Amino acid sequence: MTKKNDLDIATQLVHSGERGDAPKGKPTSVPIYAAATYTYESMEEIDKVFAGEARDYIYTRYGNPTVAAFEEVMQTIEAGATACAYGSGMAALHAALFACELAPGATVLASQDLYGATTNLLLNIFGAFGIKTVFADFSNLDDVRGKVDQVKPRVLIAETISNPLLKVCDIDACAEIAQKINARLIIDNTFASPYLCQPLRHGADIVVHSATKFLSGHADAMGGVAISRDAADSTALVGVMKLAGGVLSPWEAHEILRGAKTLGVRMDRHCENARALAQHLQNDPRVGPIHFPELVEVDRQDVVQRMLRDEQFGALVSIELRNNTRETAFRFMNALKLCVRSTSLGDVFTSVLHPATASHRDLSPARRRELGISDGLIRISVGIENVKDIIADIEQALAVSEPEAIATGSAK
Ligand SMILES: Cc1ncc(COP(=O)(O)O)c(C=O)c1O
Repeated sequence: MTKKNDLDIATQLVHSGERGDAPKGKPTSVPIYAAATYTYESMEEIDKVFAGEARDYIYTRYGNPTVAAFEEVMQTIEAGATACAYGSGMAALHAALFACELAPGATVLASQDLYGATTNLLLNIFGAFGIKTVFADFSNLDDVRGKVDQVKPRVLIAETISNPLLKVCDIDACAEIAQKINARLIIDNTFASPYLCQPLRHGADIVVHSATKFLSGHADAMGGVAISRDAADSTALVGVMKLAGGVLSPWEAHEILRGAKTLGVRMDRHCENARALAQHLQNDPRVGPIHFPELVEVDRQDVVQRMLRDEQFGALVSIELRNNTRETAFRFMNALKLCVRSTSLGDVFTSVLHPATASHRDLSPARRRELGISDGLIRISVGIENVKDIIADIEQALAVSEPEAIATGSAK
């Protein structure tokens, strides 16, 4: 065998620092396995791994130890039988839908209150393959039952807490409706996070997260994950990962794993702050309707209590200003000094988003109006700062955007 120092320096450099033995001491955190490929002592071993006779790693698009550690966490905390991670929440949603064996001619019954890109995924990508999407108001179970009877969907899909109007889905009831016709229920649990709700425990079949939001929590990583109650879904979920290739990078998996460790304490604080902000704004004459799960009508309170952790209502508060226009919303958002004008949610800092021009921009203005997403709607993802500072910033921005309302003091 050629000794390394017999080789030319160019060759030595290429092969330097490789294939070191694992250290004896066990690392206390999950290492980043920044390797795209793996090698073995012999071709026979590689052949066995390719054939699936030995479970190990060969190529990071097929699996990676850092990513596998994240998948294991998610499978455990969502109480699933299998989990597969992806490069984004959208890739995870695509994989979950694919795993439901949607053949041309099949129908998906989707909540009308979905993230805009999820609606477009259904209409533009699955629609192009002959899969039809019909929408229902998932906060009205009679509408869901009626549409199910009418279109016999293969899949029902909704969000635990919807984007951006924060409607809480009755997952128990939807699962019962789906089971009656042997359909599958996919729940996007991004806004609630597994800390507030575990949809598989309420009868959902597959739960999906954009890990870009609360799971990572620091606006520095993008990822997604799908967790199924049925181990047999692993073939399809992993198959899409391998062939469509939307894999989660080990670097991002590491960031998300680190974020997940503090999810519980962050969510406690997010929810406490969001509740304080919603209660504060309730009495402000400059603010119109407030969308927040704690403030739903009496007949929906049972659903909120059943679905979410005790006394926690999520980290998001969506508001309309008294002057419910895009101009006033922009003026308010431009005046914020602490809260960040952001294009996402779920981070440690408070961020604001204008759904009509961001998350729901691709819907037609008429459709947005039908759904109740007004041009003045502002979605606030309440961070973990001291809530007094958050409220003070919002107060000063309201004073800039709605100056006359103070003078008139008009009630809501
Ligand atoms: C509810 C919900 N699901 C899925 C996604 C998509 O996630 P990602 O941006 O990680 O693809 C988002 C993004 O905002 C979202 O809000």
